[in-house]
Amino acid sequence: MIAELAAKFITLEGMEGAGKSTNLAYICEFFDRQSIKYRVTREPGGTEIAELIRELLLKHHDEAIYPMTELLLIFAARAQHLEAVIKPALANGEWLISDRFTDATYAYQGEGRQLGGDKVELLEKFVQQSLRPDLTIILDVPVELSAQRVRHRGELDRFETESSDFFQRVRDAYYQRAAADPNRYSVIDASRDLQTVQSDLHAVLDDFLDTKV
Ligand code: TMP
Repeated sequence: MIAELAAKFITLEGMEGAGKSTNLAYICEFFDRQSIKYRVTREPGGTEIAELIRELLLKHHDEAIYPMTELLLIFAARAQHLEAVIKPALANGEWLISDRFTDATYAYQGEGRQLGGDKVELLEKFVQQSLRPDLTIILDVPVELSAQRVRHRGELDRFETESSDFFQRVRDAYYQRAAADPNRYSVIDASRDLQTVQSDLHAVLDDFLDTKV
């Protein structure tokens, strides 16, 4: 029954080491049990061209990538992703679960890089028009825990080498966005053990299906 209702767009956000991959797999299992037809994607990326832009963004280069260049590259990848994947999937009745979307841009470029939310908002309107996620789940971890988990991964990408001040601004930005629209956002404390985190995640998804679908 649920599977026949209008497709929804769900995004998963959080800092490095928040456990997005593990919890994304849990969300998929949840939707499998509900027999909901969904597709998983990610940003930056999700299409061949957008994945090339991702590579460019994550790799270290001799030449600095300026914050505005970074912002425009992210929205270029997003424009491609929207046309090639997101809009067709939703139009086809497939739910979409994206590992990051524009909230990451508000957090990382708007506040992390200190470009300001107004520039992100301008591009969001230009590129996405009225398209926004129906539900955004933020896996929240303190900056120190995020850094500690990332250090165990080995080689760090261009974002992972940022300062703790940068990540504090990212974390605060996610919080502020969630506080401004509690109807769309759910913040889960991902510093706790996995079972507790997933029990909260289950409750958020249950509630979403019960009240918003
Ligand atoms: P991830 O796949 O591990 O989340 O890595 C993607 C990186 O890209 C992460 O460090 C956050 C960054 N990012 C931005 O800075 N802005 C964005 O809009 C998105 C989607 C990701």
